[in-house]
Amino acid sequence: MTNEWEFKRHRRLRSSAAMRSLVRENHLKVDDFIYPIFIIEGENIKNEVPSMPGIYQLSLDHVKAEMEELQSLGIKAVMLFGVPNEKDEQGSGAFVENGIVQQATRIIKKEVPGMLVVADTCLCEYTSHGHCGVIHNHDVDNDESLKLLAETAVSQADAGADIIAPSNMMDGFVTVIRQALDEAGHQNIPIMSYAVKYASAFYGPFRDAADSTPQFGDRKTYQMDPSNRREALREAESDIEEGADFLIVKPALSFLDIVRDVRNHFNAPVVAYNVSGEYSMVKAAAMNGWVDEKELVLEKLTAMKRSGADLIISYFAKDVAKWLQG
Ligand code: PBG
Repeated sequence: MTNEWEFKRHRRLRSSAAMRSLVRENHLKVDDFIYPIFIIEGENIKNEVPSMPGIYQLSLDHVKAEMEELQSLGIKAVMLFGVPNEKDEQGSGAFVENGIVQQATRIIKKEVPGMLVVADTCLCEYTSHGHCGVIHNHDVDNDESLKLLAETAVSQADAGADIIAPSNMMDGFVTVIRQALDEAGHQNIPIMSYAVKYASAFYGPFRDAADSTPQFGDRKTYQMDPSNRREALREAESDIEEGADFLIVKPALSFLDIVRDVRNHFNAPVVAYNVSGEYSMVKAAAMNGWVDEKELVLEKLTAMKRSGADLIISYFAKDVAKWLQG
């Protein structure tokens, strides 16, 4: 007997867990993830970041064990941020041979060589003023900063970094870093560009973790205005022309339309950065018992893939790996 009403029965494909999994369009896998880590100078330090429960600043002596844990979970890539003891106007800790990220990189490549090291290339963790470049006349000087960023990238690659990820938002950073890497013999090291990085309120907890809050002003003369959409494509386009191998969109959650735009316009792998504030917000709600953490995290990370992200940088990577194993 046919239906006496005219309508479609969409519920047919939702009738059981097996049926739903048969028609599921997007999946998370552990290979999608890059796990960010904060490496702090000093010995025997494992400081939980107060605004990021479950995330630690680790000293070098903890690095090997951390990598082994990640490897046992199947995580294949980490992104390194440095927390140095000393800061100066130029951010020289970013590019000295024995900088904290360079040391951590050498340890990882020696102890757990299969782990991919993505080096965040920026000066803000190392400058006394907390800006991502050098200051002239109360503003960040673009071209002067580029020289130091190129030096930072080369020193990270010399230490063994597998991928260079410049996050400073100076114009021309891909050109200058590509050229410097090539001249130093690192033609095969890819650039994962923070092509589209907004001036976001979601970075607050990261700035606690990396001690990188600007001491004056804000980052709005170099990071993008969250109101803008077309500008994201202009940024991504120039980075592709300059030689970027991956395009990052950051933050992720409030910019999923941009992730989709970038995916539709370019063929390079697209990376969504699920930033610190997006992590802390969920943790805080979960700790209050207001949301189901696992369901919420899997929903929002899957939304990033559905929006077109190939890869996700996330502080939840370990949790997801455990959930996927279980
Ligand atoms: C450095 C940098 C920042 C983040 C990644 N690289 C902070 C900033 O721009 O202030 C933020 C990451 C996060 O919030 O998780 N420029």
